[in-house]
Amino acid sequence: MSLSIVILAAGQGKRMCSQIPKVLHLLAHKPLLTHVVDTAHSLNPRATFVVYGHGGEQVRQQLAQLPVQWIQQDQQLGTGHATLQALPHIHENDRVLILVGDIPLVSRTTLEKLLAQTSVDQVGLVTVSMPNPAGFGRVLRNSQNAVVGIVEDKDATAAQRAINEINTGIIVAPAQRLQHWLTTLTNHNAQQEYYLPDIIARAVAEGLTVTTVSAESPEEVQGVNDRVQLASLERYYQRRFAQEIMLAGVTLRDPARFDVRGELQVAQDVTIDVNVLIAGKVIIGAGCTIGPNCVLRDVVLGANVAVQANSVIEGAVIADDCIIGPFARIRPETELATGVHIGNFVEVKKSRVARNSKINHLSYVGDAVVGQRVNVGAGTITCNYDGVNKHQTIIEDDVHIGSNTQLVAPVTIGMGATIGAGSTITRDAPAGALTLCRTEQRTINGWQRKQKQK
Ligand code: UD1
Ligand code: CA
Repeated sequence: MSLSIVILAAGQGKRMCSQIPKVLHLLAHKPLLTHVVDTAHSLNPRATFVVYGHGGEQVRQQLAQLPVQWIQQDQQLGTGHATLQALPHIHENDRVLILVGDIPLVSRTTLEKLLAQTSVDQVGLVTVSMPNPAGFGRVLRNSQNAVVGIVEDKDATAAQRAINEINTGIIVAPAQRLQHWLTTLTNHNAQQEYYLPDIIARAVAEGLTVTTVSAESPEEVQGVNDRVQLASLERYYQRRFAQEIMLAGVTLRDPARFDVRGELQVAQDVTIDVNVLIAGKVIIGAGCTIGPNCVLRDVVLGANVAVQANSVIEGAVIADDCIIGPFARIRPETELATGVHIGNFVEVKKSRVARNSKINHLSYVGDAVVGQRVNVGAGTITCNYDGVNKHQTIIEDDVHIGSNTQLVAPVTIGMGATIGAGSTITRDAPAGALTLCRTEQRTINGWQRKQKQK
């Protein structure tokens, strides 16, 4: 029996107070709906359907790359009605897993457990006990503790409202049965909606067993209804991620001050100080240390790289034993070979720097190719932009550039050359020689500085 997954995402999300449809809001920089779709796909379903409605075109456009089938629900008549819209597209022999677009963090483990513990021709649902279950559908059980139905908060009696076990909204059922149940639902309830959870009582009436599986934690099945819940789920996500990497051998100076908004692959014995933000795809090699307040976006770090405080690195590949920062900025398309030092207030853009070269203070190196063992003095600038085009600077091996030098590109500094401090280099400098370009120093004897009138 194959699995089809239906993700309900047509609701408005009024409490977000937003022009953006709820499922497009970001958690760990990824839309809520994408979290759910990714988890759905980890179960290898035959097909995944997203039921969209409110703000639907925006959702479809922005998430067009998602490998799902989009099903429109024109009017939001309830979760049962929403599920029904997908049914004509589902093989009648499939089992159908229904997920919710605004429950982003439900885990693959919980869903696998639900699918494994529910017989293929029966019904299962994920429940959780909550200290404060107000607003949720309550799970009704008989004296043998078997599930007999779900009652929505708004339809519940005072006694039913005292039940702590709630319906998370995640349900699995055979397609054929669903077809029958959903086409015969009524909306005779407090909200005048077609409730999906009403199928539970129908299943019981037909003699089926309803299996329940409990979520690992309430957060895992916590829905996002407003931005306060979004922020608390973000924290949960980050804490869970932090825990995972700590258990795999990473030291986090404070797991509460660490954020991953993307994918992080991190080796053992890496130490990460407070307020570090990881974004995009980041790989950190063994033994690296990341100082406080750093941003790493789409970066690959080799082994034993030290990124010191307040450095921002984006789109770079950095080899073993490099030292970066503090206060360094490395921009996209930069490649640093083993043992390179980039120091404070240095910006490097779209440049390759070969082994053991040092650019330690207050410099801008852009569109450059820098050889091995080069030393770039403080305040050196590659003048790479003439206002229209970008030009390349080539600095060959063993070059020594004196401080406060401007290299006006395109220009090449030959192997082993030395550039005198304070030079503006506009033509190629030959290998092995000292090149400098500055006015001679003069002293004017007897010159008097003006005095202020008293
Ligand atoms: C639902 C369940 C409730 C459960 C709770 C858990 C129903 C009737 N109740 O309540 O038992 O405890 O979730 O969070 O199902 N949606 C559509 N089309 C619609 C209506 C809703 O796609 O016509 C989508 C929404 O976008 C949302 C999901 O279905 O993602 C749940 O709908 P919502 O209105 O939030 O249901 P709850 O009242 O929270
Ligand atoms: Ca909800």
